[in-house]
Amino acid sequence: MPSSSLGQMFVVTNFGESHGPAVGCVIDGCPPGMALAEADIQRDLDRRKPGTSRHVTQRRESDAVHILSGVYEGRTTGTPIALVIYNEDQRSRDYGAIAHQYRPAHADWGYMAKFGLRDPRGGGRASARLTAPTVAAGAVARKWLFETLGIEIRACLTELGGRPVRFEDWSCVNDNPFFAPNASQIEELESCVDAARKSGDSIGARLRLEVLNVPAGFGNPVYDRLDADLAHALMGINAVKGVEIGDGFAASALTGTTNADRMLPGGFASNHAGGILGGISSSAPIVAQVAIKPTPSVRLPLESLDEEGRPVEVVTLGRHDPCVGLRAAPVLEAVAALVIIDAALKQRGQCGNLGRAYPR
Ligand SMILES: Cc1cc2nc3c(=O)[nH]c(=O)nc-3n(C[C@H](O)[C@H](O)[C@H](O)COP(=O)(O)O)c2cc1C
Repeated sequence: MPSSSLGQMFVVTNFGESHGPAVGCVIDGCPPGMALAEADIQRDLDRRKPGTSRHVTQRRESDAVHILSGVYEGRTTGTPIALVIYNEDQRSRDYGAIAHQYRPAHADWGYMAKFGLRDPRGGGRASARLTAPTVAAGAVARKWLFETLGIEIRACLTELGGRPVRFEDWSCVNDNPFFAPNASQIEELESCVDAARKSGDSIGARLRLEVLNVPAGFGNPVYDRLDADLAHALMGINAVKGVEIGDGFAASALTGTTNADRMLPGGFASNHAGGILGGISSSAPIVAQVAIKPTPSVRLPLESLDEEGRPVEVVTLGRHDPCVGLRAAPVLEAVAALVIIDAALKQRGQCGNLGRAYPR
């Protein structure tokens, strides 16, 4: 089955290409009656859009979202919500040289192997431009989750090019171009990205994602476990190469007694599990760590092949993010919102409730 859709109750189908007329999505299954305006969605899109600082791609897109359906007199009707974002700043000439070459680490060869043709302009469907509809749909989900359950979702940078980013305070995350949780390391991060950009190379990043106030009970015991659904959706974001829930890989070095989150009156004593037990939310914060690879398009020459199988040196010009992880925080948040709203609606469908509070 071809799939550009995520979710079973709150189904988001993503469409478009980087240099086509538009990108967008259709949301089927949004609960009716929620107040929804374009401004509610635009806030998150503005946090993701390119060209907001010298540290990200200089492609200029207003990323203005248009609601085409599913909202009447300012309220969701329960019918499909179509969201469209027109592409404004395509420069396909930048891709002339690589239209018939495979960029190592990018999707070019994979698409050709699968489909036998590809749209090379700006990476076509493999472009991070397709994360804009994800963020738009995520904003709708997030609004419902906050208004219905008080759920809050946040993400921040924890590592840049292998360098740890100190956690100090969530409050400064949206005040700097790195989504860094401190104000004291910004100059160091700037130098790090400037150096990568000047060298023509790129760097990777790690981020932390948290979902707060999720009631206990969301998820399933087998296969569609909440952790599996979250990992599936996060791995569905371009350039994500690793997802850990709670302590993740580090959990294997703990003992049973150190890994256990003791249940005390009033709450769990710790959160090694990352808020999910047996595939089901526990009411503790859901925590994930995500590793993002360096941007595949680099200005430095890389050995590769062209479509005829001849050896070539690929040099990628055009406007690229020196570190794609710098723009990923809003995308992770959106994906988490989509997974959690789907789990909430399934819980309501099967069990007739929206989860349970921690035992008091
Ligand atoms: C927010 C964001 C921005 C990105 N910007 C670029 C970019 O400017 N240039 C590029 O080559 N890749 C960029 N990527 C990564 C590619 O889209 C991705 O590596 C490519 O589709 C191949 O998929 P894979 O890395 O998941 O295998 C970006 C990814 C994200 C999440």
